[in-house]
Amino acid sequence: MIRHFTKDDDLTPAEQAEVLALAAQLKASRHTAAAPTPLRAPNGTARTVAVLFDKPSTRTRISFSVGIADLGGAPLVIDSGTSQLGRGESVEDTARVLDRQVAAIVWRTFGQDRLEAMAAVSRVPVVNALTDAYHPCQILADLQTVAERKGALAGLTFSYLGDGANNMAHSYLLGGALAGMHVRIGSPDAFQPDPAVVKRAAEIASETGGSVQWTADAAAAADGADVLVTDTWVSMGQEDEYAARTAPFLPYAVDEPALGRAADDAVVLHCLPAYRGKEIAAAVIDGPQSAVWDEAENRLHAQKALLLWLLEQSA
Ligand code: CP
Ligand code: NVA
Repeated sequence: MIRHFTKDDDLTPAEQAEVLALAAQLKASRHTAAAPTPLRAPNGTARTVAVLFDKPSTRTRISFSVGIADLGGAPLVIDSGTSQLGRGESVEDTARVLDRQVAAIVWRTFGQDRLEAMAAVSRVPVVNALTDAYHPCQILADLQTVAERKGALAGLTFSYLGDGANNMAHSYLLGGALAGMHVRIGSPDAFQPDPAVVKRAAEIASETGGSVQWTADAAAAADGADVLVTDTWVSMGQEDEYAARTAPFLPYAVDEPALGRAADDAVVLHCLPAYRGKEIAAAVIDGPQSAVWDEAENRLHAQKALLLWLLEQSA
């Protein structure tokens, strides 16, 4: 069976733990003789992985390109504006052309339905590199970073302040619940997470010993947090809403008072790009509790582990 990663809970809790353990191993063995090269074909040629972008990217583009090369493969990075996909060729026809030639398809797009349509047709693994609804690769990297700093993930309080309705909030709910964490979302009333995602995350948490909670009270959300997280208030595709997306979020900024409410040894994450003085204060993101550069690096290791795991499972 072909395994895809369209959203966080395409992995079970045990599978997520397996991928994270593999990510730690790959990080430790990078560039050594022991590093696996599953994308190197038996005749020595590189198998190709397509990495498609319908939205801008720095980290995702770099980490997938480098990671695919590390695994012995060749990244084929395509911006949709330079492909027929950007001119309206169907997702399904694109999948049928790609899957005869590449080992996996990684795609950053708008609607989750587009990514799922690709996965429904593709005979190679399809990976979500961010949609409007989820950013599951980022969560794997974030969990790897928290595990490095804190050891075990289960039982930690993971507090996210900001836009509760965006892709990061949804993936933290699902991915954090899979890891057995207590996930708290602090956001304005008008920017609450999708109730269907909260319901699914609560179901997962009931199996893993975690919990999920939404509150409009930013101080309560940050109180005692082991991990304090935020994301931009204006996601890609929402640029026209810029003016309306500032005032409601001001109380949810991850600033020094918010960090002061978290546990003394709280770790600060931000998927980046960050807007200092908006969703996060410079003193926090550039301060001693910030793990954002490890977090950005761990995109590489976590995604290599994910690709390796998906290819093994789909063989
Ligand atoms: N965090 C993240 O996905 O960054 P990019 O948009 O630069 O890929
Ligand atoms: N929520 C942000 C994440 C960027 C990595 C966005 O979708 O733009």
